[in-house]
Amino acid sequence: MSNQTRLISGARVLVTGGAGFIGANLCERLLAQDNEVVCLDNFATSRPENLAEMRAHPWFTLVEGDIRHLADCQRAVAGVDYVLHHAALGSVPRSIKDPHTTNEVNVSGFLNMLAAAAAAKVKRFVYASSSSVYGDYPGSPKVEAHTGRLLSPYAVSKWTNELYAGVFARLHGLPCVGLRYFNVFGRRQSPEGEYAAVIPRFVKALLAGQAPIIYGDGTQARDFTYIDNVLLINNLAATATLSAPTDQVYNVACGTSTSLNALFGLLRDLLARYQPAVAQVQPQYGPARPGDILFSLADIGSAQRQLGYVPTHQVAEGLALAMEWYWAAHY
Ligand SMILES: NC(=O)c1ccc[n+]([C@@H]2O[C@H](COP(=O)([O-])OP(=O)(O)OC[C@H]3O[C@@H](n4cnc5c(N)ncnc54)[C@H](O)[C@@H]3O)[C@@H](O)[C@H]2O)c1
Repeated sequence: MSNQTRLISGARVLVTGGAGFIGANLCERLLAQDNEVVCLDNFATSRPENLAEMRAHPWFTLVEGDIRHLADCQRAVAGVDYVLHHAALGSVPRSIKDPHTTNEVNVSGFLNMLAAAAAAKVKRFVYASSSSVYGDYPGSPKVEAHTGRLLSPYAVSKWTNELYAGVFARLHGLPCVGLRYFNVFGRRQSPEGEYAAVIPRFVKALLAGQAPIIYGDGTQARDFTYIDNVLLINNLAATATLSAPTDQVYNVACGTSTSLNALFGLLRDLLARYQPAVAQVQPQYGPARPGDILFSLADIGSAQRQLGYVPTHQVAEGLALAMEWYWAAHY
């Protein structure tokens, strides 16, 4: 079956964290695919303006609420076919600084959403896991079955999500699919705040003519994944025929690795097309950050074979599109 024929359409879909980077992109795409979309968010790390274009849409409903409150989850999930659970506190450094809040949102909040989704008998519970669950596993590329010792409270929270999803699938028959995202980037990803992701952080600095900080020597590498690949796999994960057990997890990436030094060069070249002075900016180097994984490369074979996932955008193409967006957004 081709990817084009496996889109979520004509359904009612709950996107938790729907005001965030990935969530808002999902809401927008799902509306374009003729779905009713319910967005549950408390705007902890996003702004209501992210939803400005969607709020006028007759098939869009915002439930302003907190996944730490079971009643908010129950309210949002009522009558829903699919849940795409993306509400969480991201960032490894944030979780090291405040593990309790990360745990309350990412673990207790997740459990609330699972319980609400199981009671509402949704068709599928797709949720955002993370490449952080690979921890210090030395093998490369990362294959779903082999994980190492976890390196941060954030990684613990995502690993715990996978454990709970498995238990709810077995105990309550809730069909769950976990998506282990590898460094997603693209339009709408915010460069603001101390926990901003590396690409928007570099972009903001470069456009301001400032030297972005690379933590460590810059040889650490990531499997950067353009947002459209994430939108595709959410569609596939929600609609795929699942074989037992129904608590599968999949790597979501491109299957290529880019060092931070190389990333810096790519971004500088792309942005210099818009603002020539950017070509002169050099990076500065800071101390390596605890909890960071040094080398991250995904094996995406499982998602390809079982979900039909073939990335639509490789890194360079995605970066070019993302830079176009950042430039137009005047960051
Ligand atoms: N962006 C990545 O590279 C990446 C990588 C791996 C995993 N993930 C996961 O994907 C998901 C989405 O990430 P993102 O990059 O879009 O982050 P984001 O911070 O932009 O979005 C998260 C959203 O969740 C909301 N939220 C936070 N706490 C909440 C609560 N208690 N109740 C309701 N809503 C709450 C935030 O307000 C925000 O809108 C997260 O689960 C994240 O851990 C992202």
